[in-house]
Amino acid sequence: MRRIGSAAEMAAIAERTRGEGGTIAFVPTMGALHDGHGSLLAEARRRGGLSVLSIFVNPLQFGPTEDLARYPRTPEADEARARAAGVDVIYAPAPEAMYPSGFATRVRVEGLDAPMCGASRPGHFTGVATVVLKLLHAVRPHVALFGRKDYQQLQIIRRMVRDLDLGVEIVGMPIVREPDGLAMSSRNAYLSAEERARALALSRGLRAAEAAFAGGERDAARLATEARRPLEEQQLAIDYVDVRDGESLEALSRVERAAVLAVAARVGKTRLIDNVVLSP
Ligand code: PAJ
Repeated sequence: MRRIGSAAEMAAIAERTRGEGGTIAFVPTMGALHDGHGSLLAEARRRGGLSVLSIFVNPLQFGPTEDLARYPRTPEADEARARAAGVDVIYAPAPEAMYPSGFATRVRVEGLDAPMCGASRPGHFTGVATVVLKLLHAVRPHVALFGRKDYQQLQIIRRMVRDLDLGVEIVGMPIVREPDGLAMSSRNAYLSAEERARALALSRGLRAAEAAFAGGERDAARLATEARRPLEEQQLAIDYVDVRDGESLEALSRVERAAVLAVAARVGKTRLIDNVVLSP
């Protein structure tokens, strides 16, 4: 396994691999790796070819009052996990290398960045799209793997890749959960034991809504009410509970086509997100 910090060196490896007829599978992350990331790495390995993991805590996607400075960083554990997962290359550029002084370019996917997390995190998805474009450009993968946990992010990346003819296959992988249902997240490390227990309200609400959906409920407001109830019981600060088209993220009043029911809420100071896909 090689560890690389420069985009030029990464691009040289990608060019050599492609020149020899090899394929490249890519998993972009911000590190603090858990089993959710692990499932993406396993899928990358399964697809064969060169397996590349990027670890970069992207300052551009954090708001001024967000957790950039205290975002968990576990480089040794990440490296051990990467090795065990059969990663060939860890691409971990320094912030100054990614954004040298004078860096002025932004990539914005309009419209899709407005609702849901976009409403409370202005600029967040522009930061994500900008860094993912830079990462894709350095790594030149045939396939890039993303989790459905960050559902809006996944749709934004898909749209960017289509709009800019990037010619990379984007694969969305299922949400990996703790045995009790909590969606795995690097930010779960912030939760106290008491908050950890209350955080279960997110997945509990989504399961209730999913059961109502399976029972034939198609009214978006009633599905959202099911998802909200446990959040209110636990007195979590709800950011949104939304039923939206699975691709365009337009608000729906009824679920007659593939949709997502997505929630964001704060438990103490920690903002958590989760979702479930509803397919009629
Ligand atoms: P990060 O939060 O580290 O997540 C990296 C990838 O792992 C994302 O595609 C995310 O959706 C996926 N992931 C996280 N938790 C998951 C879970 N429980 N189950 C399945 N997949 C999960 O998302 C980012 O980093 C950044 O925004 C990034 C795309 C790297 C750009 O900076």
